[in-house]
Amino acid sequence: MLIRRLPRPDRPRYARHLKRLSEEDRRRRFGRAGIEDGWIDAHVAGLSEDDLILAACRGDEVIAAAHLALDPTSFIAEVGLSVDEDQRAGGLGADLLRQAAVFARNRGAGQLMTLCLSDNRAMVALARRAGMAVAFHPGEAEARLELDPPDALTLGQEMSTGLFAVFEDWAGLIERYHGLIAAAAQGAAPPPGGAKG
Ligand SMILES: CC(C)(COP(=O)(O)OP(=O)(O)OC[C@H]1O[C@@H](n2cnc3c(N)ncnc32)[C@H](O)[C@@H]1OP(=O)(O)O)[C@@H](O)C(=O)NCCC(=O)NCCS
Repeated sequence: MLIRRLPRPDRPRYARHLKRLSEEDRRRRFGRAGIEDGWIDAHVAGLSEDDLILAACRGDEVIAAAHLALDPTSFIAEVGLSVDEDQRAGGLGADLLRQAAVFARNRGAGQLMTLCLSDNRAMVALARRAGMAVAFHPGEAEARLELDPPDALTLGQEMSTGLFAVFEDWAGLIERYHGLIAAAAQGAAPPPGGAKG
């Protein structure tokens, strides 16, 4: 599945994805209990402009995402992952982590880091499979991956996700256009959202 950089105006779609996480998954994702919908909205609205949200989408919905934040002083990129419950165990988490490493390298990060609760076996397994070194602290696990400088391959990988995203958008646009034409030909009401670009 295509993983693309989510444009900033689309960040509410990322918030909708996070709000579909169960209470337990919110605890796993953010490392503490009692995360309410309002907290998620404020968290997403407060993300830095420079942060990246890499997202896998189905239609208009984000079904899996990586939030990547680069510290400009340490050049450590921190990543947080989330996958809709009904989309798990299909490799999306691993794909997101791989893409996050590519985007982090392209921005000059020297290290990719993720923090999770030490009982988060899926995330620890995922990090290890991605070649990350995992250190356990009381209640918390910290996974780190040393990153090489960007090269033609990583730059090409990022460029190709952008190009595929453009093609995907055009395909969606053309599909909606045909829907409009068909609806107009039948004298029916246009499909919902049909006029949107
Ligand atoms: C962690 C998470 C992102 C993984 O997403 P995913 O799409 O299922 O990831 P993948 O399919 O690439 O890999 C999941 C792996 O974990 C394994 N796994 C799942 N549950 C497990 C468990 N309880 N113990 C050990 N391994 C487990 C799966 O078997 C799979 O390994 P495999 O590919 O060798 O079979 C997802 O579970 C999630 O969104 N969790 C809630 C939020 C969270 O915990 N985020 C991480 C903290 S930032």
